[in-house]
Amino acid sequence: MPTPFHILHLEDNVLDRELTAAALAADGLDCAFTYATNRAEFLQALANEACDVILCDFTIPGYSGLAALEAARMQRPEIPFIFVSGTIGEEVAVASVKLGAADCVLKDRRDHLAPAVRRALREHQCRQARQTAKAHLLQAQKLKVIEQLARGVAHNFNDLLTPVRANAEILLLDSGPETSPAREMLADIIKAADRGADLVRRLGTFSRSHAIQPAQMSLNEVLAGLTPKIKNLVGEHIQVRIQCAATLPGLHGDARLLGEAILSLVSNARDAMPHGGQLQITTEPARISPADAPARTEAGTGEFICLIVRDTGTGIQPENVPHLFEPFFSTKGVGKGTGLGLATVYGIVQQHRGWIEVVTRPNVGTAFKIFLPAGRPKAHPNGGS
Ligand SMILES: Nc1ncnc2c1ncn2[C@@H]1O[C@H](COP(=O)(O)OP(=O)(O)OP(=O)(O)O)[C@@H](O)[C@H]1O
Ligand SMILES: [Mg+2]
Repeated sequence: MPTPFHILHLEDNVLDRELTAAALAADGLDCAFTYATNRAEFLQALANEACDVILCDFTIPGYSGLAALEAARMQRPEIPFIFVSGTIGEEVAVASVKLGAADCVLKDRRDHLAPAVRRALREHQCRQARQTAKAHLLQAQKLKVIEQLARGVAHNFNDLLTPVRANAEILLLDSGPETSPAREMLADIIKAADRGADLVRRLGTFSRSHAIQPAQMSLNEVLAGLTPKIKNLVGEHIQVRIQCAATLPGLHGDARLLGEAILSLVSNARDAMPHGGQLQITTEPARISPADAPARTEAGTGEFICLIVRDTGTGIQPENVPHLFEPFFSTKGVGKGTGLGLATVYGIVQQHRGWIEVVTRPNVGTAFKIFLPAGRPKAHPNGGS
C-alpha cells in the first residue's frame, strides 16, 4: 500500500479531526490529510487533490453526508468513501453502503477506523488490478485481430509489389537517355515500390509473418554494438545514459530484430524530446513471481531480462496509450511517422515470447519496459505462435 496515504477528510469539528488522525496514527497508518469543512472546500478538494481515501462526517452544517457521497461517486468513483459519524443509524448506514460508501464507522468506535481504511484500500487495489487485467486482455484480443488482417495485407501486397518493381526495372534498361521523362517516371515507380515493400516488411514483422532466427545471445552485447548508432540517431541535444546490468542471463533471440526494436524506441524517444532531454537505456535481470503475474496477461513466471528505454520527453496522452501498438497509429502528422515503429516492436517482442509495459506521464516522460524470457523460451502461456 502507498505511504503516506492521502486522506481527504470532510469534517467541520477540529477535535473530531484530531481524534480521527490520532486513531489512524495509533494503528500505524501513516496518513497525510487534506481537510474540508464545508461543501465548497470539499468540492474543490475533490476536483484538485490526489487522495487515496475520503472520510466524511454525516452531518456538516449546510451540507449533507449523502450529498458529499453522491458528489464523490460522480467525480472520483475510484476513491473509497468512508463515513465517520456520531449520528448515523443502522438503516442509514446500510443505505449509504448501497449508494457506494465503502464503510461507516461510529465516532465512539474509532478503533474500527484503521481496519476499515485498510480494508477499503485493499478492495480498491484488487478492483484496480482486475480492471488492468481486463484492459490488457481486451487490448491483446484487439491486437490479435489486427495482426490477422495485417498478415493478409502484407502477404497480398508483397505479391503485387514484386512484379511492379521487376517490370519497372526491365523497362528502365531500355528507356532511352539518362534525362528522358520515361526514366524519371520509372525511377519514381521503383522508389514507390521500395517504400511499399518496406511498409509491407514492417507489417509482416508486426504480424509475425516471418520466422525469427534465434540464437544464444547477450542483450548487453547488442546494446554495446548499437551505442554509436544510438548516439548518432538522437543528436547532441539529448544526453544518453546506457546502464547494462553487470550480470545478465543469456537470451535465445534474434539480435538483428531486437536491435531494430531498440532503435525504434530510441527514435520515438528522440522525437518526444525536440528541445533536448535525457535518454536512459537500462538492462536488468527480473524475476517474475506468480504474485506479480496476474495483472500481466501475457506473462509467464520465472527469470526474465528487462530492457528499459526511458525518456524525459512529452509523455503520452492517456487516451493514446491503448492504441500505441496498433499499426498506423501515429500522432506525428502526415509524412512524419508511419505509425509502424511500435507495431514492429510489439511483433518482435511477441516472437520472443515477451511483453511490453509502458509507464508515461504527460510533460514528464515515458518508459518502455520490455520483458524477455531468459535462456530458451518455454511454450507461450497464451498459446500464441
Ligand atoms: N517515447 C515516446 N514519447 C511520447 N510519445 C511516444 C513515444 N513513443 C511513441 N509515442 C507515441 O506513439 C505513437 C506511435 O509510435 P510509433 O513508433 O508506432 O509510430 P511513429 O513514431 O509515429 O512513426 P514511425 O515509427 O513509423 O516513424 C507516436 O506517434 C507517438 O505519439
Ligand atoms: Mg516511431
